[in-house]
Amino acid sequence: MENKLRYRLVFSYFSIIFLLIFLINISIYFILQNFYIESKKSDILFAAKTVLDYIDVYSNKVDKEKIKQIQKDVYSKVVIIMDNKVLYNDFNKVISYNEFMKSEVFTKKINISGEDFYLLSYPIFKNGIHIGNVIFINPLEEALNRIMNIEKQILFVSFVILGIVFLYSFYISKTIVTPLNTVVDAIENLKDDIVLREIKVDGYKEIRRLCQAFNEMNKRIVELDKKRRQFVADASHELKSPLAGMKVLVESLIQGGFEDKAVRDEFLQSINKEIDRLSKLVNGLLELAQIENADELKMTSLNIKELLKEVIKSLEPIAKSKNISIYLNGDGIILNLNRDNMFRALYNLIENAIKYSNENSKIDILIERDDVAKITIRDYGIGIPEEDLPYIFDRFYRVDKTRARKTGGAGLGLSIVKHIIKLHKGDIEVKSKVGEGTAFIIKLPLEV
Ligand SMILES: Nc1ncnc2c1ncn2[C@@H]1O[C@H](COP(=O)(O)OP(=O)(O)OP(=O)(O)O)[C@@H](O)[C@H]1O
Ligand SMILES: [Mg+2]
Repeated sequence: MENKLRYRLVFSYFSIIFLLIFLINISIYFILQNFYIESKKSDILFAAKTVLDYIDVYSNKVDKEKIKQIQKDVYSKVVIIMDNKVLYNDFNKVISYNEFMKSEVFTKKINISGEDFYLLSYPIFKNGIHIGNVIFINPLEEALNRIMNIEKQILFVSFVILGIVFLYSFYISKTIVTPLNTVVDAIENLKDDIVLREIKVDGYKEIRRLCQAFNEMNKRIVELDKKRRQFVADASHELKSPLAGMKVLVESLIQGGFEDKAVRDEFLQSINKEIDRLSKLVNGLLELAQIENADELKMTSLNIKELLKEVIKSLEPIAKSKNISIYLNGDGIILNLNRDNMFRALYNLIENAIKYSNENSKIDILIERDDVAKITIRDYGIGIPEEDLPYIFDRFYRVDKTRARKTGGAGLGLSIVKHIIKLHKGDIEVKSKVGEGTAFIIKLPLEV
């Protein structure tokens, strides 16, 4: 994978630059040639005009010495034809001049047996009548050679540039491909075993982002994996202790405890309690799994106050047994809710408020409307120590482990609540002071 991508990058760079240099060279060649011919043209034109001064159109005589001088200056051969007679010719090749005998200045690039020439024909007039032409023939070979020489130099520089580009593209491709490879390796490793493997964030911006994204993802996966393991460990532990308790009780019964009715009754009652604890735990786990697996809940418009009244009613027997009064204040708000789940969440919170309050206490529930719906459930019970607050929504987390045994809590209630509120796109906060009480504040989006 590395080599393929790398060579591709190098090849692309190289081809583009090569094509560019090729085009530039071709254009330079033609531009130089044109430039040369253009500059030659004005020189020769001037020379041709000068030659006219040394032609006597009345006696058909030419001053050969002068003409030789002039033609030498412009490196050209000259042919003078007048009244269909060749008056002067030092061009050693035989060509037909008919097509150049024009009454205006005429130029042409011609090729005679493989050699290039630039030809300029200048008309001669006698009393306003066109009687002949001075033809300058300039061999382009020397000029072209000079252009070729320049071209060669440019070509040399081009190849040097090409070489540099080649090396540079090799380097660039390395800086792209190497970190890419590191990421791929890291992903492949992650497939085999989930460990934190931070890769160096380096290179181009996009590559850096890729590395960063991988590192974040890696961290998240490791966290999730840790949570999963922790959950399995916690759940097994929680399930193990009531089972172990029952095993001891049953063994004692088998070993003779059955004879004594009082002992037998007490043991059976304890076993029954452990079974209750176990089934509560399993039910809690099932609920949690169910909620965690739900992507979206079916929502209906409900009045939160009516729902709270129903929850309070179903908890009344427990509240009464501890002589706790529950007060519900604030106006009803219609919200988009999943009835069963929201019932469960409110139930868990109010149940906690009762469970963690002393007898003859009270609970205040307040509904407020802001840019969100705010429901506060406040008790005046035992409170939660500050250091435990960050964890109370964690699964199986209980502040007082020994007390939990008595009250039978599994530590799952609040994590269920948190999930349900999250599925409603809401938020839950807790404020508490040991000995003074606790307030849970739920914020739910208003129906739009
Ligand atoms: N209103 C409250 N006052 C004081 N402590 C509370 C209150 N609500 C929760 N807690 C503390 O937070 C812990 C976690 O609560 P959570 O509801 O998750 O579990 P639980 O009540 O122990 O068991 P479960 O609800 O699963 O039967 C509790 O064990 C308790 O220590
Ligand atoms: Mg609870």
